[in-house]
Amino acid sequence: PPPRRPEAALPTIYAITPTYSRPVQKAELTRLANTFRQVARLHWILVEDAAARSELVSRFVAGAGLPCTHLHVPTPRRYKRPGLPRAAEQRNAGLAWLRQRHQHLPPPQPGVLFFADDDNTYSLELFQEMRTTRKVSVWPVGLVGGRRYERPVVENGKVVGWYTGWRADRPFAIDMAGFAVSLQVILSHPKAVFKRRGSQPGMQESDFLKQITTVEELEPKANNCTKVLVWHTRTEKVNLANEPKYHLDTVSIEV
Ligand code: UGA
Ligand code: MN
Repeated sequence: PPPRRPEAALPTIYAITPTYSRPVQKAELTRLANTFRQVARLHWILVEDAAARSELVSRFVAGAGLPCTHLHVPTPRRYKRPGLPRAAEQRNAGLAWLRQRHQHLPPPQPGVLFFADDDNTYSLELFQEMRTTRKVSVWPVGLVGGRRYERPVVENGKVVGWYTGWRADRPFAIDMAGFAVSLQVILSHPKAVFKRRGSQPGMQESDFLKQITTVEELEPKANNCTKVLVWHTRTEKVNLANEPKYHLDTVSIEV
């Protein structure tokens, strides 16, 4: 028989990325794909916030050079308002795809789910850390919550609290980029989703995690949550002040 590749034993990392059309979209996706392409056994679930798959993202996915599932679901207009959480519908579409895919398969292939927003910055080491998630793992996130970082506070290998400067009363005071969930947990809690009713920004993570785990159960990663391996970077709005109102160039260019 052919020698077994060591990669074949690795749990698949599923990254769910909500994304929406804006001037920087292709730049963000390019940066993200350049990271993900370097991660073994990563399956990218890219979910467009749109009524249909766009040509830009479809073309991008076709050339991305990594396993990719391209979904779409529009955010209802009433939820597209400042002060409301973003991307609940898109993350739920990703979760539904994942559950459906494994529904008919025997005991799930080992896998880990991670919510990867398109504008954050991810170190490759982060994926090594999350790969060994048994149920739900957590780690620090840089440049978030009005501080240089937020992190779970760990004592004797257990999460006992949160270092944060923002809404410290959150049950899980952690950004979306600060945790991963095993596929088993996702499949054994089929009703765990992001809820729109009564949800507030900053509470989505807690509302979701409450449905699947407890603080006591969390697995600290990144050297007992003392290393920042992901940054909640946000891209500046582009200046298009000199963009002509009508098409002036001789060719049409996708940006
Ligand atoms: C913070 C958190 O890091 C997000 O995980 C959380 O969804 C968000 O707050 C929130 O308010 O709900 P922030 O940088 O403010 O992040 O949010 P964005 O990066 O603008 O959006 C999060 C993700 O949703 C991105 O992948 C973005 O492309 C996507 N998105 C955003 C949409 O799909 N549709 C939108 O209308 C806006
Ligand atoms: Mn962001």
